[in-house]
Amino acid sequence: LVTIRELFKNREKYLDQKVTVGGWIRSIRDSKTFGFIVVNDGSYFEPLQIVYHDKMENFGEISKQNVGAAIIVTGTLVATPQAKQPFEIQADEVTVEGTSAPDYPLQKKRHSFEYLRTISHLRPRTNTFQAVFRVRSLAAYAIHKFFQERGFVYVHTPLITGSDCEGAGEMFRVTTLDMGNVPKNEDGTVDYTKDFFGKETSLTVSGQLNGETYAQAFRSIYTFGPTFRAENSNTTRHAAEFWMIEPEIAFADLEDNMDLAEAMLKYIISYVLEEAPEEMNFFNSFVDKGLLERLHNVVNSDFARVTYTEAVEILEKNNDKFEYKVSWGCDLQTEHERYLTEQVYKRPVFVTDYPKEIKAFYMKLNEDGKTVAAVDCLVPGIGEIIGGSQREDDYEKLRARMQELDLCEEDYKFYLDLRKYGSTRHAGYGLGFERCVMYLTGMSNIRDVLPFPRTVNNCEL
Ligand code: 4AD
Ligand code: MG
Repeated sequence: LVTIRELFKNREKYLDQKVTVGGWIRSIRDSKTFGFIVVNDGSYFEPLQIVYHDKMENFGEISKQNVGAAIIVTGTLVATPQAKQPFEIQADEVTVEGTSAPDYPLQKKRHSFEYLRTISHLRPRTNTFQAVFRVRSLAAYAIHKFFQERGFVYVHTPLITGSDCEGAGEMFRVTTLDMGNVPKNEDGTVDYTKDFFGKETSLTVSGQLNGETYAQAFRSIYTFGPTFRAENSNTTRHAAEFWMIEPEIAFADLEDNMDLAEAMLKYIISYVLEEAPEEMNFFNSFVDKGLLERLHNVVNSDFARVTYTEAVEILEKNNDKFEYKVSWGCDLQTEHERYLTEQVYKRPVFVTDYPKEIKAFYMKLNEDGKTVAAVDCLVPGIGEIIGGSQREDDYEKLRARMQELDLCEEDYKFYLDLRKYGSTRHAGYGLGFERCVMYLTGMSNIRDVLPFPRTVNNCEL
């Protein structure tokens, strides 16, 4: 079998030759003596037209196939200069690999994304979702390529963990299924100390703490894996299970961190523009009209860099535009983030040095004693796409902060230890992979860039 992509990309090689393709029927119509099938195999946008005729002994069988059926076609690839498509296959043989029931939910008309979410097993057969998931795959590859080319070591951090990296308590608990035998305390609550892991365990919200330990051995590392958050945010940008890329670099500060993040985002964008031009044109035409221009601008200009304090001054002057009014000390909401990146800077912007109260315990305290060396990267259309920081590398300062926040020292002993044995300046960040794919494609709902989204009230398949 040859892919339809291959036929389009190397058409000279295949024209007037015998080829065999396999795919799913997009549309089918016949007259008495011949018929047309449009078939798609997921490798390319352009569907391929097949012409079949009544000299084939299974003409009748072919003609009664429904949309969605899987077929294998052998025939000659013939140029069709008059038609919209550059070529078609004049079939010698069409075999039906799998029939499709007449109630196939995807018909030729455009379906809404909302409807397609209800059939997440079939939506990858539509043009939009084929483009989304090809771009998602390419972006993942680009990320590995970016870090590997720079000598970063890919570390597989655990998904089951005993600590809460972000300290936000938004964790899914992990326990054994055998609830009948779950050890109980006297008051009836579960006694996790006797559970499988001998302690209370959860699904990780971030691989950062583990990643930091490897950065203190390899200098430059990255993680790329699923993370889980039980935050009850029913928004277009939050999922309960999402993928995160977390580089961590030793002997590096916040500036180095931003330089890395900027280079990475530009690399991913350039790679996808280069490798998926048809998909990107499709998004630009059908999903988000300004997409290509915006992404090209991002690649060709520097990201803005502004402190939280400066950002708040700008936002305060525009408080009449916001639902939530801004003042120093408050966390920035999506509306504020988007205002900064879309209205003020009109490009990606790094906001640094947030008040320590609204950021995680591990961030390095700045000399002012009030802010930490945090950085969020905000992009148009989305808001926060990256969150990171320089880490507190001083044992006593970190310990004091953990005590202030009432963190259980026992759970973070390994993390504190790192500050005892050859601690270095170090920094890192987390890129939300789905938000990155949204940014690349212009898709506006996180549910539409996750193959099988897990969001509030939604865990189908
Ligand atoms: O800002 P966050 O919470 O940072 C961390 O987890 C750090 N430990 C990262 C690090 O420094 N190594 O999350 C990082 C990014 C966010 O900027 C966002 O893009 C994404 O992860 N993210 C989510 N994406 C989808 N659904 C959610 N519920 C998300 N929560 C965070
Ligand atoms: Mg964040």
